[in-house]
Amino acid sequence: MRRSGFLASFLLTLLLWSSTFSAYAADGKALFKGNCGSCHAVNKKVVGPALKGVHDRWENNEEEMAAFIKASQAYMKAGRKFSAYTTQLFNEYNQSIMPNQALKDDEITAILAYIKEEGAKPDPATAAAPAGDGTGAGGGLTFSENAVYTGLLVLVGVLGLITFILLVVIGVLVNAIRAKNNKQVFTLKESVLGLAKNKFIITIAVLVAAAGGANELVTQARGVGLHKGYGPVQPIAFSHKLHAGQYGINCNYCHVGAERGKSATIPSTNICMNCHNYIQQGPQYGEKEIGKILASWKEGKPIEWVRIHNLPDFVYFNHAQHTKVGGLECQTCHGQIQEMEVVYQHSDLSMGWCINCHREKKVDLNKNNYYRTVHAELIAGKEDSATVEQLGGLSCARCHY
Ligand code: HEC
Ligand code: HEC
Ligand code: HEC
Ligand code: HEC
Ligand code: HEC
Ligand code: HEC
Repeated sequence: MRRSGFLASFLLTLLLWSSTFSAYAADGKALFKGNCGSCHAVNKKVVGPALKGVHDRWENNEEEMAAFIKASQAYMKAGRKFSAYTTQLFNEYNQSIMPNQALKDDEITAILAYIKEEGAKPDPATAAAPAGDGTGAGGGLTFSENAVYTGLLVLVGVLGLITFILLVVIGVLVNAIRAKNNKQVFTLKESVLGLAKNKFIITIAVLVAAAGGANELVTQARGVGLHKGYGPVQPIAFSHKLHAGQYGINCNYCHVGAERGKSATIPSTNICMNCHNYIQQGPQYGEKEIGKILASWKEGKPIEWVRIHNLPDFVYFNHAQHTKVGGLECQTCHGQIQEMEVVYQHSDLSMGWCINCHREKKVDLNKNNYYRTVHAELIAGKEDSATVEQLGGLSCARCHY
């Protein structure tokens, strides 16, 4: 636990926690998700094998495993202890190459420790902790957060019990004193009723309940339909990092509507085929993923991409208005897409998010004719720039049908 603070160590001691909360847990998990999660899960086969039980398959030899992880192809050819086994595995996995992992030894040790720990747990389908597939970017509580919340709940329960026992003890003592002074003795029922009539206690209870309720309500209301961080697994492992980042393909080449119309649009298979007619091998997945494009094209079946961004139907949003007219970069709203292996929603798309920008953002009135012609009245007297708000960008009807 090193220096995880007084409260944490108190909680841990109180609940007699053992090794499940060890120092490597967070590290190994994060490293695993970041480096291996796109191809591996502990409990299920993804691109590579499920890693549960991998220590048994490698006779607990972490040194050999590390050598393989760092350079799987070289390991396979080097005639080492498990080379024959990995050749067999490689063929079993349709010769998908596991890329070399540039990790330090202690990082690999942390990852392997995480795999071992996860693998030892009961099947995630029946366990309480969310399994996660390693590809989503946002999402629920992590294992250790869950443990802390459970710990806090238990603590509150224990404190409540102690309070109750103390109250009973106080009651008994008060009765003893009253009996000694020949005063009336209260029964348990009378004591409880007395407490329930106490104005101070009632006020506190009502305040606590109201604060809790209000907090819950606000969180719920804010969260409706907002999916910041949502990044689902797509039917093809299409990478923006590779296409828009490494190969620098312009966003508009694929999202043809982004500067022309309301919707940016998702490219059809035809657009992919402009290149993949010729490029049929990928650096990471070989023919596997690109093969799906060819199949879609041959069969005339569109690829069923999972939609990520989705405003409610009662909101009007237009891409061209923002990119072409407003001069905004895609990244302002979508984040660094060209660095994302898997796209996720960068902004929360809430009304507050739209409004905040409309309040602050200034547009260049002389950059194009749009403003002088469409907003002539609104911008009369303004020289060079105006905020979106000054152009009417806060009025309800602009965004709501
Ligand atoms: C791009 C996909 C990919 C990534 C990323 C990846 N692997 Fe693999 N891994 C594979 C494939 C495919 C195999 C099957 C064997 C082969 O291809 O040589 C494999 C095999 C393995 C094996 C042997 C499994 C067994 O059952 O014996 C281990 C261990 C392993 N990977 C660990 C890791 C670790 C740890 C990371 C992250 C640091 C990682 N891999 C990242 C694809 C990947
Ligand atoms: C080679 C074609 C291609 C290029 C270039 C490209 N994209 Fe995409 N984009 C796609 C495909 C295919 C999807 C759907 C699959 C996915 O989400 O990864 C997508 C999805 C998206 C999404 C999420 C759509 C949704 O479902 O809500 C955004 C946002 C996006 N791209 C923005 C960009 C930006 C910004 C750039 C430039 C930096 C860019 N894209 C470049 C093909 C491309
Ligand atoms: C302008 C050219 C171009 C377009 C259009 C294009 N790609 Fe690619 N794609 C590439 C290049 C270049 C590579 C990398 C080839 C390499 O490095 O060997 C690639 C690789 C891939 C890979 C293999 C990844 C891997 O690591 O194995 C997939 C999958 C892929 N593209 C999907 C798509 C999809 C889906 C579309 C359409 C939405 C698309 N591409 C459109 C140029 C393009
Ligand atoms: C002002 C913020 C903003 C900017 C700038 C912006 N987008 Fe979007 N984008 C959104 C919002 C909001 C949605 C959701 C729209 C909906 O659900 O109707 C979205 C959705 C998308 C989608 C998926 C749905 C669709 O419209 O087809 C893609 C793809 C996309 N954007 C690409 C781009 C690209 C490429 C650029 C840059 C040329 C860009 N966006 C610039 C806010 C923005
Ligand atoms: C990062 C800044 C930014 C964000 C975020 C943003 N906008 Fe805008 N918006 C602009 C700019 C700049 C303009 C261009 C000014 C104009 O055309 O009047 C604009 C214009 C508009 C207009 C046209 C107003 C007019 O002139 O009639 C509408 C409608 C609109 N935005 C809706 C939305 C909605 C809906 C959202 C949220 C889903 C949103 N915007 C998010 C910057 C933003
Ligand atoms: C710049 C764009 C924009 C303007 C201006 C705007 N809204 Fe919205 N509004 C949105 C977006 C986007 C959503 C959906 C996201 C959300 O629920 O927060 C929304 C959601 C709503 C909702 C549903 C809330 C919910 O939780 O489901 C109501 C009601 C609403 N707006 C009323 C208004 C009223 C009234 C005005 C004028 C005072 C207004 N809006 C002005 C963009 C806008």
